[in-house]
Amino acid sequence: MKQAEQTAKRRTFAIISHPDAGKTTITEKVLLFGNAIQKAGTVKGKKSGQHAKSDWMEMEKERGISVTTSVMQFPYDSCLVNLLDTPGHEDFSEDTYRTLTAVDSCLMVIDSAKGVEDRTIKLMDVTRLRDTPILTFMNKLDRDIRDPIELLDEVEEVLKIKCAPITWPIGMGKEFKGVYHLLRDETILYQSGQGHRIQDSKIIKGLDNPELDEAIGSYADELRDMLELVRGASHDFELEAFLNGELTPVFFGTALGNFGVDHMLDGLCQWAPAPIGRETDQRRVEPAEDKFSGFVFKIQANMDPRHRDRIAFCRIVSGKYQKGMKLFQSRIGKDVRISDALTFMAGDREALDEAWAGDIIGLHNHGSIKIGDTFTEGENLRFTGIPNFAPELFRRIRLKDPLKQKQLQKGLIQLSEEGAVQVFRPLINNDLIVGAVGTLQFDMVVARLKAEYNVDAIYENVNVATARWVDSDDPKKLDEFKRKAEQNLALDGGDNLSYIAPTMVNLSLAEERYPDIQFMKTREH
Ligand code: G4P
Repeated sequence: MKQAEQTAKRRTFAIISHPDAGKTTITEKVLLFGNAIQKAGTVKGKKSGQHAKSDWMEMEKERGISVTTSVMQFPYDSCLVNLLDTPGHEDFSEDTYRTLTAVDSCLMVIDSAKGVEDRTIKLMDVTRLRDTPILTFMNKLDRDIRDPIELLDEVEEVLKIKCAPITWPIGMGKEFKGVYHLLRDETILYQSGQGHRIQDSKIIKGLDNPELDEAIGSYADELRDMLELVRGASHDFELEAFLNGELTPVFFGTALGNFGVDHMLDGLCQWAPAPIGRETDQRRVEPAEDKFSGFVFKIQANMDPRHRDRIAFCRIVSGKYQKGMKLFQSRIGKDVRISDALTFMAGDREALDEAWAGDIIGLHNHGSIKIGDTFTEGENLRFTGIPNFAPELFRRIRLKDPLKQKQLQKGLIQLSEEGAVQVFRPLINNDLIVGAVGTLQFDMVVARLKAEYNVDAIYENVNVATARWVDSDDPKKLDEFKRKAEQNLALDGGDNLSYIAPTMVNLSLAEERYPDIQFMKTREH
């Protein structure tokens, strides 16, 4: 198949949601539709993570399958879909954020009994960096949910994105009857107890069809009235607004009951963009270019307990990967031969012969690959827009054996280069402060310091609430700021100046007091 066709059929997306909204369940059903697995229920979710909080190594082992589901590729309709996992529970980390820079669209899953929750708000903020198109799935219609109109209002108000309902629910909980598809003008009836297979859905064409009254009784008239209201009060679907990240098509259903997931997948294939080009420090690279290029957005340690290797996940932006090809690693200015890249098909790691723009390949890595690295077929480019994100949680790392201070520092800086956590060294003392966006990362740091650097360390609370990278266009003002704010300044793992604030209020005051200083929530590699 030609490159243009290969690229056109790919859809690379990730799921954003608050824990327990149904990401794992929906992933299972999506794979069921992709025929990647025969019977849903074989993708292990976060379950095993719940009781293994403090034992990171054990957890990695137990999670087995969930770790290898970092990337799942499957066919759907005429498309080839890449679903990138976004770690969500205790394993929530900066990787979750950075994965969102490697996709072309996102599916937002909302628990319809709860509405918009914290984590979703944060993840939506990250998608705004690239104005990523968002599809929405309102989940758990088989339970008593909130008023659907109120849910849409909340999404619009809190997440600042217009909602265009594509399907509309009929009833809820025990009385959930199905959905009406506004674009297809048909009602799709829900049958309970069919969650583990693809249903032969019963479809009733047209709203005035008497079959509808027969099938759902008084709900039919209610639906007709409701739709008039919905059509008047909500937005019509507009492709361009969706592609600009300004409007989201909304689908209702139940992931557990495997109902509505296919409507969403149809929308994804029909509307979500095929692989999109990316900016570099030199020029924009388009997927149609025949030479390979890609960037590393995530590095995962210990993928397979038998091999202690690390895998660098590389998103292909243009061209084609072929086994055995030589690639230029821009940061170190050298060619490397890639003989054994991996792909991940619904749970199995597989050696891969070729891959195209939009695909993710896993590169074996013994420490020479870093987050943000660009690989090309010779051209010296560096992709931009693969940032570090300001951490939200902080701990001081302390040694049990004080003689190993050097080792500890080296270990922490390497872990920060890998993108697992960030390390901050205050200018005024010798503390080592680790920052992360998920709590499990601290256990991971201590476990890996022990296993890989032979350092016994513990972590303890520290009075830091938030951090920002700082810079200024005016070197004089920056110097003055360094003198005056010294007790709040630190260097990160890459020696970049950062402001660490004991409270959010302190940060706001500093921003007010030093208007010539930029306080940044993200930092480019
Ligand atoms: P997550 O990955 O987003 O954290 O969510 P997950 O899919 O694990 O779902 C969280 C809980 O919500 C699970 O229940 C799951 O079964 C349930 N769930 C997901 N989709 C639906 C739905 O459409 N309807 C209903 N009623 N429940 C749904 P659990 O009790 O935590 O786990 P389990 O014992 O059921 O596996």
